[in-house]
Amino acid sequence: LSAATEVRCSQMPTYACHRRTPLNHHNQTITNALEILARSAFFQESDVRYLGFTRAASTLKALPYKLQSVNQAKDLPWCGGHCMIVIQLLTGIYGVGVRTAQRWFKEGIRNLSDLKTMECKLTAEQVSGLRHCKDLQQQVTLEEAERVGQLVKDTLQRFVPDVHITMTGGFRRGKEVGHDVDFLITHPNENALSGLLEDAVGWLETQGLLLYHHLKKRKPALRSASSSMDSHETCYAIVALPSSSSPWNTDIEVKKCNSEDAERIAHPESPNSLNSRTWKAVRVDLVVTPQAEHAYALLGWTGSKHFERELRRYSLREKKLSLNSHGLYDLEKSCFLPAQTEEEIFLHLGLQYLPPSDRNA
Ligand code: GTP
Ligand code: MN
Ligand code: MN
Repeated sequence: LSAATEVRCSQMPTYACHRRTPLNHHNQTITNALEILARSAFFQESDVRYLGFTRAASTLKALPYKLQSVNQAKDLPWCGGHCMIVIQLLTGIYGVGVRTAQRWFKEGIRNLSDLKTMECKLTAEQVSGLRHCKDLQQQVTLEEAERVGQLVKDTLQRFVPDVHITMTGGFRRGKEVGHDVDFLITHPNENALSGLLEDAVGWLETQGLLLYHHLKKRKPALRSASSSMDSHETCYAIVALPSSSSPWNTDIEVKKCNSEDAERIAHPESPNSLNSRTWKAVRVDLVVTPQAEHAYALLGWTGSKHFERELRRYSLREKKLSLNSHGLYDLEKSCFLPAQTEEEIFLHLGLQYLPPSDRNA
């Protein structure tokens, strides 16, 4: 162990928003394992253990070198105590077990739970949507995300030609796969946004491209200083993304859906369509914000979840500023701090700007 390494360990900042967390880092195996443990703690509703494992994983993601020994971890923030013992086990003879657990987790628990969350949201009719779970278990690729983006753009521009759309979430942080595709929608004129999601949903439905959706209206009362709850108008959807080779491409003006296609979408496992499926079910989140809140929503919806959690914890504890995806509230001066860009928000928080690719905490 070199002295230089020791120094770097002790210099690791405790807040994730004080350090760079790239997508590709040096400790993937161990952070994967720690995140499995975090998930497992989450499902067991143990918040303390969930946060502990998440923080330890996040710290190791920011480490600029591969962890060589357990000793190296002991001075890192959040990596001592119980996590230390776990790291010791994981770096040792339990390596194979970890991989098995990971596969088990990937194939079982996560999907089962995903399914459960879905089930309570679906009506009897929509339970048929559960037949799309095979698709939803698959990762969404960047190429698919871009085609979803095109579809979302084409759809929204029918109603508001100069609407502004940004892809957020993991893809904005540079991920090449994701569990869904997230979009932020805005316009300088707030009135232009009113009813836009309903219109978009309605149109996608007539095209047979919407397998499920849940619209959440904006709740202005929730835009308060202390609320960490999000009250943007949001649409959680599952779209039927036409495959790239499908004649049913996103240039929908040219090729409209015929009744046969619609039937295939509505009953994907009917005998006729079993071998001729030309689409994939993809989860999509659409969030609408007024221009004034756009920068905050962009920061809030770009993630990662842990980065957001850390940013809020840091803001509140160190700066007495309450941050959510609508704005930033100064608790001492009792006022909101406006921002047009993410850079301005980092400035308000007294933080060095981190681009999305360094927010993979
Ligand atoms: P993958 O989709 O798995 O690739 O990862 P992701 O980072 O894109 O995760 P996800 O789509 O779940 O969320 C993206 C970001 O939006 C994260 O920072 C979340 O914290 C945030 N987010 C997700 N759901 C909500 C919500 O209901 N309200 C608010 N304010 N933020 C949310
Ligand atoms: Mn996402
Ligand atoms: Mn999402």
